[in-house]
Amino acid sequence: MKSFYITTAIDYANGSPHIGHAYEKVLTDVIARYNRLKGKDVYFVTGLDEHGQKVQQTAEKRGVTPQELCDGVAEEYKALCGRLDITYDDYIRTTERRHKDVVNKILLNLFEKGEIYKSEYKGYYSTKEEQFLQEKDKVDGKWPESYGEVTEISESNYFFNLSQYQDWLIDHIQKNEDFIFPKYRAKQVLEFLKEPINDLCISRPKERLQWGISLPFDDDYVSYVWFDALINYISAVGYGTDEFEKYWPADYHVIGKDILVPPHAVYWPIILKAMDIPLPKSFIVHGWWLASGSKMSKSTGNVIDPLELIEAFGADAFRYFLIREMNVGQDSDFSIALFTSRYNSDLGNDLGNLLSRFMNMTTRYCEGKVPSAQLEEKPEEALKTLWASTKKEALELFDTFQFHKAIEQIFMFIRATNRYVEIRAPWKLAKSESMEDQSRLLTSLATVGEALRLASIILKPIIPRTSRRILEALGTQDIKTFDNHLEWSEVLTGKTIGEKEILFPRIDLE
Ligand code: MSP
Repeated sequence: MKSFYITTAIDYANGSPHIGHAYEKVLTDVIARYNRLKGKDVYFVTGLDEHGQKVQQTAEKRGVTPQELCDGVAEEYKALCGRLDITYDDYIRTTERRHKDVVNKILLNLFEKGEIYKSEYKGYYSTKEEQFLQEKDKVDGKWPESYGEVTEISESNYFFNLSQYQDWLIDHIQKNEDFIFPKYRAKQVLEFLKEPINDLCISRPKERLQWGISLPFDDDYVSYVWFDALINYISAVGYGTDEFEKYWPADYHVIGKDILVPPHAVYWPIILKAMDIPLPKSFIVHGWWLASGSKMSKSTGNVIDPLELIEAFGADAFRYFLIREMNVGQDSDFSIALFTSRYNSDLGNDLGNLLSRFMNMTTRYCEGKVPSAQLEEKPEEALKTLWASTKKEALELFDTFQFHKAIEQIFMFIRATNRYVEIRAPWKLAKSESMEDQSRLLTSLATVGEALRLASIILKPIIPRTSRRILEALGTQDIKTFDNHLEWSEVLTGKTIGEKEILFPRIDLE
């Protein structure tokens, strides 16, 4: 059976991870976990992009070798993934032999087919962006600051025949509506492709850059870092071996909006096409996390460190916030005030409180055993009906990556369950001597327990630890696949509840 293959972008090895890198991994992890729960055989790859000028320069500045720098950064990224409960199956590093071998194979194959040719290049070059520039890249007659120092150069280089594939690419994007999510990003790519594209310079002379993969047909050059990096998606799953077809084509490449055009939407499909390799099925293009409205940068000192937030709030709270606040595709603003408020109100008040109420009442009125429901009156009926629609809508929203909306629906159900507790007021029923009220008391506890079980299971892709803790507190086990676990049931009847749990203790901003 073919795996469900999903990837993240591979991060640059020249700096530490920030909230943006963490977000991409959490988003991909949520999709991976969700699909595992649906019973798919998921294969999730992330990794590190280790070559290039910036890594070479950073290593020089720090007085270490590029490899030492990359080894340290790889450890940092892997540690972050561990803290975030990212369930990746493989971590690919572009300095690994398995990766370099595939890059070599592809370079050689394209060179032999005449898709890569040598030519003289005269023009401008931005060292900071490792990019050749043209007059049209100037704004008001000047080079935008983002390019750093721009120098005029003249040198021989190798070029990849991009331009001859332009019409084919336009056609592919137009015919495959699901190739790029959200759809408005596909429009942006088509807009870019209205202008003729240039062939891609895929080499850098070793005089300028040594930290890269040597071209197999000319040892005086290394490969352009993007050409090398994109290939990780196939080198990680054994391109050239029998294994490859189990994974490829990828189901989803999850990337940020800044690297869609041109690398992922233009270079990558054309490299694959030139190699006769099928294209990935789809790109999921997310937006950016901003800090108080502006781009995070080391120089402004507004970079948000995910580890600090995980330390203070826990991994699930961090995952919850990122997925709750971001409408996939658009940008979102991070602020600690918003984080704290989501934490306290949604996780602490709505979800955490519901569990502790349930635990307290079950201990007090039923000696710690979940009772069975005795009757079904209006309040129970209403909650069950709400669950049926919540489940349907939330799953549909998960399927279309609208996780923020799915969470909103699920928390409406959790709040409705809290209101149900108020309506039933088990503490009043407990005081009543009537048989009917006693039945209502037992029913109300069974109902709340079941509502909590269902909510925790559907939230599992987003807050996996909390989901497990709730299930254990309810006296039942964690689940691997949804199967029929999202159906309203009586599986909790007779279960002995666990230790008292305070899920999300209140945090004051002070
Ligand atoms: N190395 C390239 C990707 C090569 S993929 C074959 C790269 N690395 S990166 O470290 O700069 O970015 C890695 C991912 O993090 C990208 O998808 C990028 O869009 C994402 N983010 C970087 N900053 C971000 C935010 N502030 N917010 C959300 N995601 C952002 O690009």
